Amino acid sequence: MDNLIKKQFNELESYIPGRPIEQVKEQYGLEKVVKLASNESPLGPMSIALKAIKVNSRELNRYPDLEATLLKEAICEKFSLPKENILIGNGSNELIRIAGQAILSSGDEVIFADPSFALYRMIADMFQAKSVPVPLKEHGHDLDAMFEAITAKTKIIFICNPNNPTGTFVEWNVLDDFIKQVPDNILVIIDEAYAEFVEGYNDYKERLSYYSEKPVIITRTFSKLYGLAGLRIGYGAASASYVKTDQKIRDPFNVNLLAQAAATASLKDMDEAKKRYELNLENKNYLYKGLEALKLSYVKSQANFVLIDLGQDSTVIFEKLLSKGVIVRTGEIFGEAYQNFIRVSVGTKEDIDFFLKALKDVLTEVDAK
Ligand SMILES: Cc1ncc(COP(=O)(O)O)c(C=O)c1O
Repeated sequence: MDNLIKKQFNELESYIPGRPIEQVKEQYGLEKVVKLASNESPLGPMSIALKAIKVNSRELNRYPDLEATLLKEAICEKFSLPKENILIGNGSNELIRIAGQAILSSGDEVIFADPSFALYRMIADMFQAKSVPVPLKEHGHDLDAMFEAITAKTKIIFICNPNNPTGTFVEWNVLDDFIKQVPDNILVIIDEAYAEFVEGYNDYKERLSYYSEKPVIITRTFSKLYGLAGLRIGYGAASASYVKTDQKIRDPFNVNLLAQAAATASLKDMDEAKKRYELNLENKNYLYKGLEALKLSYVKSQANFVLIDLGQDSTVIFEKLLSKGVIVRTGEIFGEAYQNFIRVSVGTKEDIDFFLKALKDVLTEVDAK
């Protein structure tokens, strides 16, 4: 069978997800496990979304709306965008994969920051394009170096803003200047999965209009602030012609009925969205204070996760934290320069206390050796 599979897929590295809670409970015989590894919302879906899921589950014998009409209308209203510029996907991951499928051929080049979201490299590999990772500068995008990395073969540049895993943010005016300079035969994908957590965030309505001036796709998600990661639904904005292309490539019913209903409902409760943003900010500051008390340094984040410098190889600490019921991300997966770091989702205050206590115990244990 393997000989039938295209070479690039045989060689493709799989996405490494955070460890599932049940698996860790079983492995270590634990009753309580806190997962702070995948930047999910600790608050669950909004209650308005849960109601919509309940009502709409009666319609599960029907295929979902191919056009996601109600959701598109809700997005149009919220962001003052024309409907023909809106993308809806089975998670923003799918939107990114479809862009790769639409644009990339063997030998093309894809520029992204390093480390950044693992999917960008995977998409390049999937379509036999060459990855051009550009090291971060002071944990943030080095746009000058990214610009210099452009060649005649460059087809896509990814900007993860805020960046996963560092939580750094490229200011809009800086990004504007960068995008203006990028030649028009290159697509810039701005991945804004964590945009709603940026301090001072105000929907950034105007940001979604980038597509009108340049070949730009902006992607966002309902997986993070809106707490719908398990339903898989993301959205984005692009030129009308690109949106048509995306519609031809995707599966006909790619976004399920419950996801559409829950996302549409979530956009109607902006008070709850604001509360979630504020709570993340408050808890992130609480986490910072706890880390400072442990004399640990961290990268200031504009997202719902924090990258922490342990000052020692994080792999051992990661395993020990697991055994105490805390799942985080080890820096190993972000490359050699980040070997000493762990990435921790913000979570609730209770989660943070649990994590900080476990971390303190682990660091004391390791120091004692
Ligand atoms: C930067 C970034 N983009 C996209 C995603 C995936 O989002 P979705 O759940 O909408 O596919 C993630 C998930 O962790 C992410 O960190």
